[in-house]
Amino acid sequence: MRIHVVDHPLVAHKLSTLRDERTDSPTFRRLTDELVTLLAYEATRDVRTDEVEITTPVAVTTGTRLSYPRPLVVPILRAGLGMLDGMTRLLPTAEVGFLGMVRNEETLEASTYATRMPDDLSGRQVYVLDPMLATGGTLVAAIRLLIERGATDVTAVVLLAAPEGVEVMEKELAGLPVTVVTAALDQRLNEHGYIVPGLGDAGDRLYGTA
Ligand code: URA
Repeated sequence: MRIHVVDHPLVAHKLSTLRDERTDSPTFRRLTDELVTLLAYEATRDVRTDEVEITTPVAVTTGTRLSYPRPLVVPILRAGLGMLDGMTRLLPTAEVGFLGMVRNEETLEASTYATRMPDDLSGRQVYVLDPMLATGGTLVAAIRLLIERGATDVTAVVLLAAPEGVEVMEKELAGLPVTVVTAALDQRLNEHGYIVPGLGDAGDRLYGTA
């Protein structure tokens, strides 16, 4: 597994406002959207492409286009939904699948309650969206499912990662074609499984509910 922390002043600026407890839900949603688009630019660096011949008004030349099958983007419900538009802005022709996963707040274990995506992902590059890589349980379960269905490689796009979660992913997904792209690697998890300093509960902050 590879981890890529995107080091860019615009990413750092937007992330700092996201972290601020005074940032309201509409602003939080807009900043998440903008931040994901910046992360998507880095996350798609290895997206598969083909050479194509194109004719400009001046000459015939060789261009680039995304390969088939198109990538699949999979937001993990609920909070990953807040990242979908930011990702598909750069990959408008991507197919979108959905994965509903919930974390038991006591055991911190992830379980799947909804799956809506092709059964056969052979040859597909998959981008999985989840704002917080905390314990790693949800992403490990999601990525295993995607790879079992045949995905050739999986890139997890997250806003924040905790070292504990990265360690779990490195151990559980060792040797698999997995990359994590994050805006920051934070200090630690607290006793409630929240990332410190973090930004709180991403779903609640996006959607304004408890
Ligand atoms: N999920 C969140 O929304 N926030 C955290 O800090 C950890 C998990």
